[in-house]
Amino acid sequence: MGPPALNISSSEPVEDAQQNLLPSKPPPLPEDSLLEVQSQRRANWARFSFAFGVAACIFACVAAVFVLFSCRHRNQADFYSDPEYTQRWGFSRPLKTLSRPVVLLISSDGFRYGYHWKVPLPNIHRLQVNGTEAVPGMIPVYPTLTFPNHYSIATGLYPAWHGIIANYFSDPSSNERFHPGIIDPKWWLGEPIWESIVKHGLISATYFWPGSDVSKGAWNCNLPYCQHYNHSVPYEDRVDTVLAYFDLPDDKRPSLITLYFEEPDHTGHMVGADDPHIDKAIVRVDQMLGRLFDGLDARNVFDDVSIILLSDHGMVGTCDKKIIYLEDFAPWISMPSSWTDTLSPVLAVRPPPNVDVKEVYQNITEALSSGKVANSEFLQVYLKEDFPSRLHYSSSDRIPPIIGIVAEGYKLERKRSPAKECAGAHGYDNEASSMHPIFIAHGPQFAKGRQIASFVNVEVYNLIASILGIQGAANNGTLSFSRTVLLPSI
Ligand SMILES: *[C@@H]1O[C@H](CO)[C@@H](O)[C@H](O)[C@H]1NC(C)=O
Ligand SMILES: *[C@@H]1O[C@H](CO)[C@@H](O)[C@H](O)[C@H]1NC(C)=O
Ligand SMILES: *[C@@H]1O[C@H](CO)[C@@H](O)[C@H](O)[C@H]1NC(C)=O
Ligand SMILES: *[C@@H]1O[C@H](CO)[C@@H](O)[C@H](O)[C@H]1NC(C)=O
Ligand SMILES: [Zn+2]
Repeated sequence: MGPPALNISSSEPVEDAQQNLLPSKPPPLPEDSLLEVQSQRRANWARFSFAFGVAACIFACVAAVFVLFSCRHRNQADFYSDPEYTQRWGFSRPLKTLSRPVVLLISSDGFRYGYHWKVPLPNIHRLQVNGTEAVPGMIPVYPTLTFPNHYSIATGLYPAWHGIIANYFSDPSSNERFHPGIIDPKWWLGEPIWESIVKHGLISATYFWPGSDVSKGAWNCNLPYCQHYNHSVPYEDRVDTVLAYFDLPDDKRPSLITLYFEEPDHTGHMVGADDPHIDKAIVRVDQMLGRLFDGLDARNVFDDVSIILLSDHGMVGTCDKKIIYLEDFAPWISMPSSWTDTLSPVLAVRPPPNVDVKEVYQNITEALSSGKVANSEFLQVYLKEDFPSRLHYSSSDRIPPIIGIVAEGYKLERKRSPAKECAGAHGYDNEASSMHPIFIAHGPQFAKGRQIASFVNVEVYNLIASILGIQGAANNGTLSFSRTVLLPSI
């Protein structure tokens, strides 16, 4: 048995609509017309062969589309009825207490993949043992920063398309600057999952998530279902509010609930990824998950809730004089701070309109190849149009014309200073394994004790839409992802 029927459109309406467009019978064959026009055969031959050609083309197209669709359906059916797959992982489990699916989306900021081997974390372990985990972790989007990644998880879009291209940036058309805390909807593009859910007549609740306190389209951030960000709210209060949603009557209970913890990112920035203080921070997050799971157990809904525990990015220590200084560039170029939206680990350069971008780029390149800039081999600078396409980081005016990628664990600073050197950072290339966060999911549609390959976080939007049985907005995730990760219904 699958999840209870929802009074909303299924996840297949696009396919159905396309099938209805197909002609119901094949096009007429041209034999009859051939007999009637014998006397004018030569004159009409050209017309006939044209008509025949068109008919043959239409027939071939119809046949091709038909074969394509039947293959898709057969593949899907084969996948779901593949005995090896279902014997190994089984089918989705019916809901026992809840009347319809609920997704609990939890972010523990900066929870690098592998942190969970540092110390026993019994509650995260509970999700791993009976859930599905991405190994080695999930792949963040570039740049591996908090706001771009949380909003990619929420929208299924790469930052170039959801508009939050960094934590700090400027918009060249208005000259205004974005920073965390700005909730003016003009900055936040795309359709976040909480809005998609509300558009389908269901309820979303957000206890913090970057972008969730932006009122936009069908989504209004109002109590009791949306909290405006306040980092001082104790984790216990957040958990207890989330649990209270499960005490609401069926028609008031949210289908999606987000929950956000600032740790272990906060500690990671101060001490790096390998300090014992990290252990304390992750134990605290695990204890909060324990408080949450105890509350779900007490309400007899733990097994019914689809719990997705993930993070936005990892963390890496920055020590051992791994620093590049802009002051070394002075003989070739000096870039005042008004030119740089950010320095490190993303060097984002937007020269003023009266300065030639190519010349700035060329002078930077000359400085880097001069042998006079310390650690220059650890900074890779690109014109935005030449940026590696795998990073999907050029199709937005908000992305500045010159971007430099600082190598994993390195820092770019303006000048030498006696400031404390060792800390932690993220924002580097999303290929770096230190930047990969956790993804662990538990619930009726997730296999128990299964490990899946790493995937990019833009897949999470479609995953949530599939669990809830809604049709999401266009995004950069793939449709096949949910089919290979979620269990089929019997
Ligand atoms: C996993 O699920 C089984 C069966 O529901 C349960 O007995 C077991 O305690 C669970 N394991 C953990 C670590 O929670
Ligand atoms: C933020 O939360 C703290 C702790 O709950 C509270 O004392 C404070 O008034 C809140 N601030 C705002 C602006 O709501
Ligand atoms: C780039 O280098 C050239 C040659 O040294 C110099 O004349 C020019 O001013 C530099 N451009 C900028 C924008 O600093
Ligand atoms: C991402 O999705 C948007 C919206 O559907 C689309 O316009 C864009 O081309 C996609 N980008 C990539 C790299 O697929
Ligand atoms: Zn973060």
